[in-house]
Amino acid sequence: MTFELIIRGGTIATASDVFKADIGIQDGRIATIADRLIDGLQVIDATRKLVLPGGIDAHCHLDQPQAPGLASKGARMADGFCSGSISAAFGGTTTILPFCVQHRGKSLTAAVADYHSRAAGQTVGDYGFHLIVSDPTPVVLEQELPALIRSGHTSIKVYMTYEAMRLSDRQILDVFETARQEKAIMLIHAENHEIIGWLADRLERAGQTRPVDHARSRPIAVEREATHRAVTLAEIPGVPLVFVHVSGGEPLEEIRRARARGHVVIAETCPQYLLLTERDLDMPGLLGAKAMCSPPPRDAQAQAALWQRIEDGTIDIFNSDHAPYCFDAEGKLKAGPDPSFRAIANGVPGLETRLPILFSEGVVKGRIDLPRFVALTATNNAKLYGLHPRKGSIVIGADADLVLWDPDRRVTITNDILHHNVDYTPFEGLEVQGWPETVISRGEIIVDKGELKGKPGRGRFLEQDTSSAWKKREIEAWT
Ligand code: URP
Ligand code: ZN
Ligand code: ZN
Ligand code: ZN
Repeated sequence: MTFELIIRGGTIATASDVFKADIGIQDGRIATIADRLIDGLQVIDATRKLVLPGGIDAHCHLDQPQAPGLASKGARMADGFCSGSISAAFGGTTTILPFCVQHRGKSLTAAVADYHSRAAGQTVGDYGFHLIVSDPTPVVLEQELPALIRSGHTSIKVYMTYEAMRLSDRQILDVFETARQEKAIMLIHAENHEIIGWLADRLERAGQTRPVDHARSRPIAVEREATHRAVTLAEIPGVPLVFVHVSGGEPLEEIRRARARGHVVIAETCPQYLLLTERDLDMPGLLGAKAMCSPPPRDAQAQAALWQRIEDGTIDIFNSDHAPYCFDAEGKLKAGPDPSFRAIANGVPGLETRLPILFSEGVVKGRIDLPRFVALTATNNAKLYGLHPRKGSIVIGADADLVLWDPDRRVTITNDILHHNVDYTPFEGLEVQGWPETVISRGEIIVDKGELKGKPGRGRFLEQDTSSAWKKREIEAWT
């Protein structure tokens, strides 16, 4: 048969294997994987390239309206669905899962409708949404959430901190209970709100209000305690739980203990925790704001613990937590030219640099092998968030979302080579080896040799299925 597209001569890497084969693509899907394919309307030579499943970034914030009344005064996100998805594609990511936030006093269903209208016709790759519940009223718990989960919004994040979003332990139990009934997958931002508030008040009274004081107001014990408590809360109704942006060894010990007791607990970390430390917040003037996120980056010991747990399988997913605030008066400095750390929006950008960083620091440096790289950046996200086997794998029938990866290319990351709308990258000057050359979404080339080929708006909304964390066979695999 004549294929629409053939990828010829590449080395295919999946979450389980590395092998040489050609891929035949028809109707946007992988139609065959074979030794040698001849007839194609278009043939891409992938000799000396790796062929990877398109990256899935399951933690990014795009066009997210901030809750009213925050100290950061409504700082604006620089990336929406268009620029965010383009930046992702240039970095080898073909599927994104940003967050749709319900603000207090508002309907969750209305928030989802609003977010659908922000995303529709904007993206170059495909997308789904996680929901954020900040006001679990009886209507939300009994009507809105079940209906949304059944219509393909099967992942929900809750916060234990941030004044405008945090839930009490009791409210978290309420949301977990609905998640259990509907088999939704829960994500949690685990930091102890009371300790942060107490420390931040004390620092402010002492006049210690610089970006580095943000890190001092959120020591790792704050994350360790909240992780322990969240595991306990999940254990009561019995729901699997995803810990996003885990920053070091102590919360990971809580996660390991929970797993040893048989609970399905999944850990995510992000590039900033592997590469930045608290010292990046301790820069002249306000420059440290560029590395400010929550939890904060920690120290070399925390980085070593994260690598150990990436290697041994405690950490299963690797996402950017892209939070696109410019270092200007619309973004990080929205509250004024000399803000206290409390009034600076949290988060760092990273959609485009996620894959190159993990490939270079992980695969090239010999810490992880290629299948583990693929699992962490694509396959596990697909399974966990109900997109498997359509996304995240190179198998017959899957969407032809593929990256032709040049494993030898060396790149120095600087903000001017990136495609997001943020005016800085926290990884400025970092040298990496390995870079995406050609990026394909549903059989269509969307990025080729540094040029955008796909039309923004071609991306589709993905209804998420039930998480593999709820499926017994997979539960064993997750524990
Ligand atoms: O500082 C961070 N991580 N900002 C983004 C929001 C979140 O909590 O993930
Ligand atoms: Zn919908
Ligand atoms: Zn968070
Ligand atoms: Zn986040």
